[in-house]
Amino acid sequence: MSVLLICNQKDPKPWAARIQEQFPDLSVEIFPSISNPKEVTFLVVWLPHSDFLEGLPHVKGIQSLGAGVDHIFDHAEIPEEIVVARIVDPRLAIDMWEYCLAATLRYIKGFVTYQTQQINKQWQQHPYKRIEEIRVSILGLGQIGGYVAEQFTKLGFQVNGWSNSPKFIPEVTSFVGEDGLAQLLAQTDVLINILPLTQATRGMLNQKLFEQLPTQAYLINVGRGAHLIDTDLLDAIDNGPLSGATLDVFHTEPLPPDHPFWEHPKVFITPHASSITNVHTAVEQVLENIERFRDGAPLMNVVSAVKGY
Ligand code: OXD
Repeated sequence: MSVLLICNQKDPKPWAARIQEQFPDLSVEIFPSISNPKEVTFLVVWLPHSDFLEGLPHVKGIQSLGAGVDHIFDHAEIPEEIVVARIVDPRLAIDMWEYCLAATLRYIKGFVTYQTQQINKQWQQHPYKRIEEIRVSILGLGQIGGYVAEQFTKLGFQVNGWSNSPKFIPEVTSFVGEDGLAQLLAQTDVLINILPLTQATRGMLNQKLFEQLPTQAYLINVGRGAHLIDTDLLDAIDNGPLSGATLDVFHTEPLPPDHPFWEHPKVFITPHASSITNVHTAVEQVLENIERFRDGAPLMNVVSAVKGY
């Protein structure tokens, strides 16, 4: 058995070092260095290149170095016998919550406007909103979305959530299905997308959805860039109903320099930095999965290839 790390936009070296330290007898290599492709049975990946399985005929397990696995399923046809696991780290949920809170407060307290006013040395007060007046609607109530929803309620926000199946989270109104989505959108001041990217959710942040939001609603996208139709968002901000957006994820990352989001005054951009998998808190579960794989035991946090999450 040999373990191969294939990582883009994430440094594989600290992960490889911990894996090698824990399993001194295993061959642990970082792509493109592969001494014996036939020996590679376990991959640890982040944003692998397309066809990353080509030339590796004996891979039977893949560990994502993030909560998402779309970067794996998007790039290659994954044969059924390959088990795919993701990171489930409470730290990721906490970091995501802090990011969503920061983006929400920035919006409701008018910091966006005041930032522009500062550049122009303009002194002008505006009415602001208070936490208890704000309806936060969260698309996706999985491990991370559910945690974020619960934390918003604890601060006094009114919270709605939308998911595949009904969820029972204290103080969170749970909606499902198309009708549920329409009901949720109609009661939204801040819409936060934390959905996994699947065939069903790709492109769902589009004109039809934006049209159902109240005037002045605000979008926070921390799901995936491919959830969003970029031109529909710009239209919804320029012509209503949206008052702006905070975006952490994009179709192409890094966001190309000529993309209109960079210069739009009502779009705030962060570089996929809302919640970054941390080697210190997440490496133990990767090590555990490698050990289980070696011993022929079921892996933790396995993803359904059919559902895509
Ligand atoms: C993840 C991410 O899926 O960083 O973990 O987006």
